[in-house]
Amino acid sequence: MRTVQVQLGKRSYRILIGGALLVRLGAECRKLGLGAHCAIITDRNVGARYAKAALASLKAAGFNPVLITVPAGETAKNLKTVQFCYDQLAAHRLERKSFIVALGGGVVGDLAGFVAATYLRGVAFVQVPTTLLSQVDSSVGGKVGVNLRSGKNLVGSFHQPRLVLCDLDTLHTLPVCELRAGLAEVIKYGIIHDARLFAWLEKHLPKLLARDAKALATAVARSCEIKANVVGQDETETGLRAILNFGHTIGHAIEAISGYGEYLHGEAISIGQVAAAKISAALLGLPERDAARIAQLFKQAGLPTQIQLSPAQRKKLFAAMRLDKKVSDGEITFVLAKQLGEVVWGQKVPPALIAQVLAD
Ligand code: NAD
Ligand code: GLY
Repeated sequence: MRTVQVQLGKRSYRILIGGALLVRLGAECRKLGLGAHCAIITDRNVGARYAKAALASLKAAGFNPVLITVPAGETAKNLKTVQFCYDQLAAHRLERKSFIVALGGGVVGDLAGFVAATYLRGVAFVQVPTTLLSQVDSSVGGKVGVNLRSGKNLVGSFHQPRLVLCDLDTLHTLPVCELRAGLAEVIKYGIIHDARLFAWLEKHLPKLLARDAKALATAVARSCEIKANVVGQDETETGLRAILNFGHTIGHAIEAISGYGEYLHGEAISIGQVAAAKISAALLGLPERDAARIAQLFKQAGLPTQIQLSPAQRKKLFAAMRLDKKVSDGEITFVLAKQLGEVVWGQKVPPALIAQVLAD
């Protein structure tokens, strides 16, 4: 097992990464001194596979867990599902000392984390991410929230988990498109912070796609180290943390205009990162060769790198980008790469250039 520490003073926590960790959930929660009553929030797909083991582990460690199951997928990440969870927590009489376990992908993590941040003005929560994307990104760092029809993650909070438990064995039941979507975030870490990771991915991508345990452990641990480092320096995104949004300005807008159903988050940010690389080449002198390597790696991972938009869709996309949280003084801003492993944030980009790279 590998351990990565997120250093946030009194709110520091560990990320545990390895195989066969779900059975240790209860024992690890016991070490945190949490109250006896808890709720597992999961979705239908994950619950059917892993809720039994999670419940058994918590019970064996002396906890009294209840199970709350929500529909699967991005379309469930909304205030209606939050309300459903609040009602369930109240019906089961969860108290201030109780805690919530988010068992699932990034949708469940963001949703359950938001419920934990707000129920009774905040209860503790533990992340048990079961997708590659959630193990390398969304379960770490405390950003929790839900979507509004008008935009992604527009309602939310910062609420750090007490523990993140990444059981790599759960990745074996993940649909291949979801595995690929997770790789989009792993590649992102190479681009924003670690050129060596990027080169490692160019070499080891086939192993990751074959779910090789050692390769997955390396990719998850390195990604978590980078994210933990960034979050440790800038928890609430006053500056540096924005680099984690590379490719997300366009990516979030693609998700919003397609009703959060057509593109997986990882697919949308794959298109967004390739576009951001092209913009970086035009504005910041990212070598064309590196922009091409970036596009090639996403293609190799089986991810989309382009989007066909009608004039009406393009208009909607720009409107969605203007609603994004990353807008500053009404201007759409981007994270752009100077070179592989080094990015800058808050870059204003002329709309004509955005339109041009999307039309490429
Ligand atoms: P997801 O949670 O929708 O999971 C993808 C699908 O896989 C779902 O159908 C789920 O039921 C299923 N699934 C999950 N684990 C499984 C397993 N082990 N076996 C079989 N099926 C499984 O999607 P995701 O990609 O994990 O997360 C995407 C969400 O994460 C988006 O809402 C995005 O905005 C959010 N996100 C948040 C942050 C953050 O910092 N909070 C960062 C990145 C992404
Ligand atoms: N995924 C963006 C962040 O956590 O800040």
